[in-house]
Amino acid sequence: MAYGSDLSFLKEKLATAEAVTVLTGAGISADSGVPTFRGTDGLWRTYRAEDLATPEAFERDPRLVWEWYNWRRELIATKQPNAAHAALCELERRRQLFWLITQNVDGLHRAAGSRQLSEIHGNIWMVRCTRCGVVEDNHDVPIAIPPFCHHCNALLRPHIVWFGEPLCTGDLEQCSTVLQRCDVLLVIGTSGTVYPAAGFASIATNAGAFVAEINLDPTPQSALVDMSLQGRAKDILPLLLEPR
Ligand code: OAD
Repeated sequence: MAYGSDLSFLKEKLATAEAVTVLTGAGISADSGVPTFRGTDGLWRTYRAEDLATPEAFERDPRLVWEWYNWRRELIATKQPNAAHAALCELERRRQLFWLITQNVDGLHRAAGSRQLSEIHGNIWMVRCTRCGVVEDNHDVPIAIPPFCHHCNALLRPHIVWFGEPLCTGDLEQCSTVLQRCDVLLVIGTSGTVYPAAGFASIATNAGAFVAEINLDPTPQSALVDMSLQGRAKDILPLLLEPR
């Protein structure tokens, strides 16, 4: 069997776990054709995410930052959830205590049907007013640049947590709860380099959970977790749902 005894062991762990928590990153959407941030296709023009996804970059040049988001919106709008997103919906359906934490802003987990989830870095299909703070859905592709608030006419920004900004308190509390209480944590398709999410595996380990990483390549976290399965999320996750 592909992935051999590790896969059987993880299936056993999942079968006996009362609470399961999952952390996902850009790798799960790579199988849908969305470029990862730190992969070879992660640059836009010559910019890295760290150059544009900051409050300082937006203050300096909101047009440039919106152009980047427009490019990403156009790209994501053409993508569909894949078998890995679907497998996580099924895992959610099969148990009472399940929570999905995603760093992805593409909305593909929601599109697949996941409901018990925290989008800790926000959602690319939502905008927030820089003055009155109102948050609204916006699926315009492309969005008119620069976009203005219908309520107070100030500049709108993406409803995304940028580098240097804190996660929302409610999300942090929910993450803390589901990381402390889970029996199994699956860490899928993330390079484990951006905090606080990069510290989530340690929180679960310290609380006694079994932590399994699923990633195409080894990561800085591979040595810290209980099991590291190497491969594509869309190939491995459906296998976890098969009968033991
Ligand atoms: P990264 O681009 O840093 O890492 C993607 C990870 O996915 C890498 O470890 C790849 O090896 C792995 N990977 C690629 N294809 C895969 C596949 N088909 N199956 C499984 N794994 C695969 O993305 P994140 O870790 O999500 O923040 O990055 C974290 C944050 O940094 C993002 O949320 C974003 C970014 O800047 C914001 O936008 C605020």
